Amino acid sequence: MTYNDAMQRATRVTTKYEHYGPLYDLVLATLPEAPTVLEIGIANGGSLQTWREVLGPDARIIGVDLNERAIAMRDEGFEVYILDTGDPASWEVLRRDLAGTVDLLVDDGGHTNRQQVEAVVHGIDLVRDGGWIVIEDLHASFMREFGNPSPFSAVRYLNELASDLHRAHPRSSVPPKHPNLARSIEYLVSSTSWTALRVGHWNAASRDEFTAGTDATLMDYDHRWDSSSTTRKIGALLPGPVKARARDVALRLTQAVEMRSLFRADARSSAKDRSGPPTAR
Ligand SMILES: C[S@@+](CC[C@H](N)C(=O)[O-])C[C@H]1O[C@@H](n2cnc3c(N)ncnc32)[C@H](O)[C@@H]1O
Repeated sequence: MTYNDAMQRATRVTTKYEHYGPLYDLVLATLPEAPTVLEIGIANGGSLQTWREVLGPDARIIGVDLNERAIAMRDEGFEVYILDTGDPASWEVLRRDLAGTVDLLVDDGGHTNRQQVEAVVHGIDLVRDGGWIVIEDLHASFMREFGNPSPFSAVRYLNELASDLHRAHPRSSVPPKHPNLARSIEYLVSSTSWTALRVGHWNAASRDEFTAGTDATLMDYDHRWDSSSTTRKIGALLPGPVKARARDVALRLTQAVEMRSLFRADARSSAKDRSGPPTAR
């Protein structure tokens, strides 16, 4: 059963954006039998019922909400915590009870920057390797009523985290800004308003190169980089000691010229035809 089909069987109200369903189907395909799901934000309880429909009677389904009335969901077989996820003390309670046991943590609470970022920073302790953290409704990062756009928006944080996965590579010249978190995430999947982080603690050796095959006669190693670029020609003319530094500077300058227009580029008209009329910027 798909997530969206299961949602339609809920008797209690739940509202999601339609495209979340197929994204959850991708996540659900990776979960073990009888998984543990924790959703922040119970509201009327319909999303807890949806998890029960799609995951079956043996799944452990846990809801968290500020609203004490959500306790009523215990009568339907769900575990319920009444907590404020914007308060670090709440995460202490969840860590004490659930550390390393959750297969899927969904944040659909109050959508403030703080709550969404706390769900990643603290949620990582609750989720087992191979599990997921999903943050819903990330368009809040671009809504004035949430104090956004802001350098402290949740999307800004997630973009930094995505960059950290690259910074954490052994050949990167720059260390990650959040090294422990970066080494606890295997990868991110993002769509409109929805980002999923696949949790997995990894060490640098797992990012080592892996080579197969014996026939290496085809590749021209002079073409490994862009050998025609102005930068490389400038670099080739310079004497030894100043060469490396001068090449760095030349690379930055020529990139600034060459890349500016690319960074401003949108898709060509064929892509516009596929995506329908342009929306307001
Ligand atoms: C968007 S609704 C949840 C919808 C529900 N997940 C669904 O799909 O049907 C948001 C819920 O988060 C709760 N909430 C808001 N801020 C919260 C916080 N800081 N901690 C816990 N729950 C919070 C609200 O009480 C509300 O029930």
